[in-house]
Amino acid sequence: MGKVFAVTSGKGGVGKSTVSIGLALAFCAKAKKVLLVDMDEGLRCLDLMLGVDKSTVFDLSDILLGKDIEDAVYNPEKIKGLSLIPAPSQIGMIDAFSLAGFADQAKQKYDIVIFDFPAGMDFSLYTALPEDTLFLTVASPDPVSVRDAAAVRQELNKLKLNSRLIINNFDYSIMRHGIHKNVDDIIDAAALQLVGIVPHSEELGFFSVLHTLKRKGNAMKAFCRIADRLEGKNVLLPKPKKI
Ligand SMILES: Nc1ncnc2c1ncn2[C@@H]1O[C@H](COP(=O)(O)OP(=O)(O)O)[C@@H](O)[C@H]1O
Ligand SMILES: [Mg+2]
Repeated sequence: MGKVFAVTSGKGGVGKSTVSIGLALAFCAKAKKVLLVDMDEGLRCLDLMLGVDKSTVFDLSDILLGKDIEDAVYNPEKIKGLSLIPAPSQIGMIDAFSLAGFADQAKQKYDIVIFDFPAGMDFSLYTALPEDTLFLTVASPDPVSVRDAAAVRQELNKLKLNSRLIINNFDYSIMRHGIHKNVDDIIDAAALQLVGIVPHSEELGFFSVLHTLKRKGNAMKAFCRIADRLEGKNVLLPKPKKI
């Protein structure tokens, strides 16, 4: 039985899709069979970010309508162990009942299943995921995104869903002059257990996410530490200046 993760945030653009890809690559590096599922209907992005946009024919809506999972998965850049299911190009194609059936099947076939959700407060599909799904709420050090992470945590708590915090786009040299002066301030404001910190990476603005992460710089190292922690290993955080 595989592990299921759902990547969420209140604020948009905080790096959910980047984190989803980074974690998927980190688990692939551990020889896991990983399924990435793009849940951003209408605004899909993982197919483009992973360079399979030109070859996609089927998407999640085809699977929910009865197609076999294997017939609608794509293998980005032939990365061993990585499979992607693109999001439907139109909205309103994902219903909770079919999603629940799909998620249970995916969990049987893959070691790791990562759902990349859109930002916001629409939680209608969250409870369709398997009970042991771990929600990874992404926030950047931006105070608005931290406040929004706290709002998401509150709603997840009401639904009795288990969640953790990932801080993305972390830059200690700027942050220590900002509103949240350190990592503890962010953790306190979000009131969420931290599972990892991903540094700001200049390269991500210039190159594709795959190109950047395959170079195994600090961002990729951070994703590998998060994957270790998600597997229950006790991996210490580096000192903030060294993240
Ligand atoms: N750690 C990071 N360092 C630098 N840029 C990042 C980082 N994470 C994400 N980005 C950039 O931020 C933008 C939004 O990221 P994305 O993953 O699409 O966010 P979301 O899925 O939450 O909308 C992209 O241009 C991405 O390259
Ligand atoms: Mg996204």
